Amino acid sequence: MSQNEITGPLSPSEWDYLERQALTAAGNAYSPYSRFRVGAAVLLEDGSTATGCNVENASYRLTTCAEQGAIAAAVALHGPSIRIRAIVIVNLNGTASPPCGACRQTIYEFSSPSTQIFFPAADGALTHSTIGDLLPHAFVLSDN
Ligand code: THU
Repeated sequence: MSQNEITGPLSPSEWDYLERQALTAAGNAYSPYSRFRVGAAVLLEDGSTATGCNVENASYRLTTCAEQGAIAAAVALHGPSIRIRAIVIVNLNGTASPPCGACRQTIYEFSSPSTQIFFPAADGALTHSTIGDLLPHAFVLSDN
C-alpha cells in the first residue's frame, strides 16, 4: 500500500511527520517484559502534536500503552480541551498492532467519530480507520 493511499485526510507531509514522531517515541519504549515497542503520535485539531510510547511495569497490569501516553502528554502540553484529528501508531516489531480496547476508549474521549486512526496491519504496513468504526457504542457518561 503506497503512502498516498493511506493518507486519508492527512497531507503527505503531516503523515510523514507523524510517522517519524511515532517511530522516535517507539524507540524510547520501556518494554523489558514483552519486548514489544510501540509509539504513537497525535495530531490535534489546532495542528499541535504530542507523542507517547508504552511503559511497562513489573506489576504487569500497571503498563501504559503508547496511545495513552501520547494523549496524556497532549493534555499536559495543551490542556483539557484538546481534540484529536488523527493518531499514528507504529511498532518496531513488524507485526499488527491496532489500538487495544482500552486505548480506543481513551482516544474516543478526545475525538469525533471521524478522527483518523493509522496503525500497523498484519503485514506490518500501515492501514487506517476511524475511531467511530473501531469503537462503536463507546461508553459515555451521561447525567443521571
Ligand atoms: N501496547 C500499546 O502500547 N498499545 C496498544 O494499543 C496495545 C499494546 C503495548 C502494551 C505492552 O507494553 C505491549 O504493547 C504488549 O502488550
